[in-house]
Amino acid sequence: MGRVTILLLCLLAGAVAVRGEDPYLFFTWNVTYGTISPLGVPQEGIFINGQFPGPNINSTTNNNLVINVFNNIDEPLLFTWNGIQQRKNSWQDGVLGTNCPIPPGKNFTYRFQVKDQIGSYFYYPTTAMHRAAGGFGGLRVNSRLLIPVPYADPEDDYTVLIGDWYSKSHTVLRQKLDAGRPLARPDGVLINGQTGKGKDVKPLFTMKPGKTYKYRICNVGLKNSLNFRIQGHQMKLVEMEGSHTVQNTYDSLDVHVGQCFSVLITADKDPRDYYMVASTRFTKSVLTATGIIRYTNGNGAPASSILPKAPEGWAWSLNQFRSFRWNLTASAARPNPQGSYHYGQINITRTIKLVSSASSVGGKLRYGINGVSHVNPPTPLKLAEYYGVADKVFKYDTIPDEPLLEKATPVTPAPNVMNITFRTFVEIILENHEKSVQSWHLDGYSFFTVAIEPGRWTPEKRKSYNLLDAVSRHTIQVFPKSWAAIMLTFDNAGMWNLRSELAERRYLGQELYISVLSPERSLRDEYNMPDDAELCGAVTSLPKPTPYSI
Ligand SMILES: *[C@@H]1O[C@H](CO)[C@@H](O)[C@H](O)[C@H]1NC(C)=O
Ligand SMILES: *[C@@H]1O[C@H](CO)[C@@H](O)[C@H](O)[C@H]1NC(C)=O
Ligand SMILES: *[C@@H]1O[C@H](CO)[C@@H](O)[C@H](O)[C@H]1NC(C)=O
Ligand SMILES: *[C@@H]1O[C@H](CO)[C@@H](O)[C@H](O)[C@H]1NC(C)=O
Ligand SMILES: *[C@@H]1O[C@H](CO)[C@@H](O)[C@H](O)[C@H]1NC(C)=O
Ligand SMILES: *[C@@H]1O[C@H](CO)[C@@H](O)[C@H](O)[C@H]1NC(C)=O
Repeated sequence: MGRVTILLLCLLAGAVAVRGEDPYLFFTWNVTYGTISPLGVPQEGIFINGQFPGPNINSTTNNNLVINVFNNIDEPLLFTWNGIQQRKNSWQDGVLGTNCPIPPGKNFTYRFQVKDQIGSYFYYPTTAMHRAAGGFGGLRVNSRLLIPVPYADPEDDYTVLIGDWYSKSHTVLRQKLDAGRPLARPDGVLINGQTGKGKDVKPLFTMKPGKTYKYRICNVGLKNSLNFRIQGHQMKLVEMEGSHTVQNTYDSLDVHVGQCFSVLITADKDPRDYYMVASTRFTKSVLTATGIIRYTNGNGAPASSILPKAPEGWAWSLNQFRSFRWNLTASAARPNPQGSYHYGQINITRTIKLVSSASSVGGKLRYGINGVSHVNPPTPLKLAEYYGVADKVFKYDTIPDEPLLEKATPVTPAPNVMNITFRTFVEIILENHEKSVQSWHLDGYSFFTVAIEPGRWTPEKRKSYNLLDAVSRHTIQVFPKSWAAIMLTFDNAGMWNLRSELAERRYLGQELYISVLSPERSLRDEYNMPDDAELCGAVTSLPKPTPYSI
């Protein structure tokens, strides 16, 4: 008896010693409905611990995050951590292809490490258009003190969540999509949950004269690309979706849906208030939100009512994309060192071309990729695979690597799952034959965006790739009638979501899953399913599979 106890204690101590190296941060979230009136009209919002937008998560590279989410709304719920790579751990990704949703009245604890990452991110609910009601918030990963950052410590660090907004509730928007109709234009734009219009608008941020501040700007909206700018101030870009960039200065930045930028702003102008502005791009009527930045020595002298103008057309945006460069000499945590420094010299083992389309199925609008419009089966793909019942739930390789048909064709609704061999270096072309700007996001990885060009992709276009210092990031826009090329090594085993970040398109099927299997079912490549994972669908009553081993 005594010996067993001692042995157990030793084992526990060992486990603690190994895992105890990186600090744990604990959060408890109470997710509820509540009334919000961001556009002046009361509507149903989603709160986290009474907050809209949700609380900021402040973490440091390699911290372990433990977030116990209590679902107190009346619908199944999941959160994803946009851009957090979940190394070996797609179990925590919070999308319907990897997780059973948390049922109403129940809780689930997300446990993940922000392994080898730095930067500005955000989280949001992935289920049932919930994002249209809130539930999103900032997530920052600070550099560890030991690792030099390529700029001086800012005086303070501010999160700026910008996004378009509908005055209708997420249930009304969802009913519209379920009925096969597109969403109308959004009704407004918000900065941290506010339009900045009306009387008694309070400053969102303050700056001390002469000091430099970091602003982390993320587009958490549903549909529109936004331009962000600040009266009288230039922004020095220092980080983008987890990579230190070459530090160019910009008058304004186009932030496409799902993207995040960190900029430095110095309070070196006349002491008074200044407006920050977020306005829709590529839309006939422009929607605008403002927020006030107050100089502490400005005595509240009001901001000028003349707002800086936004650029026009998407050629400007394409040029801005081309100016973004990775700072190759900055040291930082890098999640996938293999291929990080010399990605241009790695041989491509596979090229996948993905063409988006909109079409009608049974009179209802659906969006697709290479002719397939994704449908989530009741059993999450990852669970079906893990329990060995994948063949009962979905087919692999539903779509070809190269779409066969040129013209927009009817899409087939089905689970859309692709196999990619572990550790191979793959080129993915995202081609947009449509008239609107798109935004694509990949979970589990960051990728090198080596080109965005107008027209159609051909192998000869590889000559124009940036094979030296493309920024490693997780979300990329594709302009109308244009293509983007991304490259990455698939070295993170799991089931990973490649999705349109535009909520309406994703809800109507414009996403797929990439299955990257550990060939040896080894714990070195992938963690086991957590013991307390929520189960649903075909795996609910199945015996637990043999766990992965060392
Ligand atoms: C969650 O918030 C709701 C509404 O404020 C409250 O009724 C409930 O008691 C809270 N639950 C927990 C666990 O705090
Ligand atoms: C965030 O965490 C860092 C590192 O622990 C700390 O220095 C900083 O003060 C924190 N910021 C906020 C706003 O809590
Ligand atoms: C639910 O919350 C309880 C109380 O905090 C906790 O003990 C339990 O582990 C949580 N369950 C899950 C599945 O996370
Ligand atoms: C890149 O990072 C290095 C190292 O921190 C820094 O000295 C340099 O100024 C940065 N370069 C640019 C162009 O931002
Ligand atoms: C890449 O491909 C070229 C041409 O096929 C070949 O000569 C070279 O050895 C390959 N390099 C690697 C690292 O496999
Ligand atoms: C995809 O993976 C599954 C499961 O390992 C396998 O059965 C199937 O043959 C693979 N398909 C391809 C094309 O590699």
